[in-house]
Amino acid sequence: MTSSVYSAAVVGLGPMGAAIARAFLGAGVDTTVWNRTRAKAEALAARGARVAADLPAAVGQADVVVTVLRDHAATRRFLETVPSDLRAGRAFVVLASATPAEARRTQEWATERGFALLQGAIMVPEPLIGTDDALVLYSGEQRLLDRWRPVLEVAAPRSVFLGPDPGSAALHDTAMAQVFFAAMTAFLHSAAMATAQGLTATEFLPWARESLALLPDAFAQLAADVDAGTYDGAEDNLLMELSGLEHIHATSVEAGVDLRLPALLRDLARRAVDAGHGADSWSRVVEVLRAGSPTV
Ligand SMILES: NC(=O)c1ccc[n+]([C@@H]2O[C@H](COP(=O)([O-])OP(=O)(O)OC[C@H]3O[C@@H](n4cnc5c(N)ncnc54)[C@H](OP(=O)(O)O)[C@@H]3O)[C@@H](O)[C@H]2O)c1
Repeated sequence: MTSSVYSAAVVGLGPMGAAIARAFLGAGVDTTVWNRTRAKAEALAARGARVAADLPAAVGQADVVVTVLRDHAATRRFLETVPSDLRAGRAFVVLASATPAEARRTQEWATERGFALLQGAIMVPEPLIGTDDALVLYSGEQRLLDRWRPVLEVAAPRSVFLGPDPGSAALHDTAMAQVFFAAMTAFLHSAAMATAQGLTATEFLPWARESLALLPDAFAQLAADVDAGTYDGAEDNLLMELSGLEHIHATSVEAGVDLRLPALLRDLARRAVDAGHGADSWSRVVEVLRAGSPTV
């Protein structure tokens, strides 16, 4: 069965919702669009979108309603406006980002109100939507993903189901985003240090990539240590690493750049060392992180 057999509504036409609507339209999915700011919906009419007069009209014309609003608060406000008789008989797919707990609350809230709701987390930037690289993680109601896969895979061929916990997609989303933003910020910090001392960021880039190339194997070792609860420092240990982190901090001082990131890394290592774990590997830092922060 091809995707054009189905009718979809896309509610929320920010950069991401508009990209999803364009992917649907490009694949011949019968698509109705609605957006709070109507001009963004009308911009899609030239591509063949049906612009709904109001929200009930958008929902009423669709087998599957994909909501791509800013957050879950806006999503719940939208769902509240869907008349009861339009809630049954169609699927609602929520793609706004959230915390795991909020995703679970939204699932419970929606189920109590008669919605068949599937939640997903979009893991790629807007330009990748509709390409083979597009990845959306889903969790919760597997039957809904199975049923609507032909449509949802138009936007994201890599539509992956993670399990029945409706918070799982959000957990993976936030955990993956943390890896991404922490790495990007580390690069920017290094770029600030390098440019303060005469290098360009582009000159430094290949050397940053040398560090990056070490990370896949490093992550695998960290994951094994965290799961085993053992932090063998035979090859590298926290006392040695603390000394290196002091150098990063001091270089940042010399460069006159923001000290928060190197101070954070140094503090994490120091806490583990002060607790008597100087001979352990960097993976021991997970125990410092698990202990929670006394200041934030
Ligand atoms: N953009 C990306 O690359 C990307 C990547 C991964 C995940 N995401 C996720 O996708 C979701 C949408 O992101 P986005 O980039 O498209 O833009 P966005 O700016 O977060 O979302 C804008 C959409 O939400 C609507 N909206 C916001 N508050 C509303 C409210 N109170 N009532 C009704 N509508 C409301 C906006 O309507 P108006 O047009 O009227 O303001 C617009 O349609 C977010 O949860 C984001 O985290 C985005």
